Amino acid sequence: MDGNGRWARKRALPRQAGHNYGAQTFRKITKYCEKIGIKHLTVYAFSTENWRRPKSEVDSIMKLFKEYLEESLTDFTKENIRTRFIGDFTPLSPEIRELMSKAEELTKNKTGLCLNIAINYGGREEIAHAARSIARDVAEGRLSPDDITQQDISERIYTAGQPDPDLILRPSGEYRTSNFLLWQSAYSEYVFMDILWPDFKPADLDRALNEYARRNRRFGGV
Ligand code: IPE
Ligand code: MG
Repeated sequence: MDGNGRWARKRALPRQAGHNYGAQTFRKITKYCEKIGIKHLTVYAFSTENWRRPKSEVDSIMKLFKEYLEESLTDFTKENIRTRFIGDFTPLSPEIRELMSKAEELTKNKTGLCLNIAINYGGREEIAHAARSIARDVAEGRLSPDDITQQDISERIYTAGQPDPDLILRPSGEYRTSNFLLWQSAYSEYVFMDILWPDFKPADLDRALNEYARRNRRFGGV
């Protein structure tokens, strides 16, 4: 969900205003995904690198996240969306972590869209997390180094049990992955769109899906 800051700057507004609008776009797009039958959606809300931003901006993003979580405990129970969080939660406030567990618990039996919110997420950090888990299993004799497979890594990443993404969509006109779903994206199709996240509409998602539908996926075969 990229481009909030530039969207605000274009309007001579503080970056915070861009994040506010971006959060509204996020609510609309997740509901739209559920409506059109998408099964898994992962949104990149805050990266392991975003702590480099000024404290005031980090605080305002965390405040928005907290508001969303509080709202999700009431209003969103109507939706058929299962919410999960991926990332390293240790630096998040105990209050936010508590709300995250509640949101997961409350929606765990929902059968529609599975929504993963990536928060303090980094693809490299995720792979390091899997490596630590494998190292523990080796140290404690449950696994032999020669037997480690790709499957062992896939089972230890944050999205374990979910399919790899078919489509990765980046708005805002940047052409990089910025540490998003590194392991999972080996054969994902990328769509880059020159539209700032607060301006993103369901019709833009439709455009991306149409583009995806025209791709010929071979997974290294012919
Ligand atoms: C939102 O967009 C992404 C978050 C980290 C919340 P940005 O804040 O990165 O917006 P730009 O890239 O500065 O325009
Ligand atoms: Mg950005």
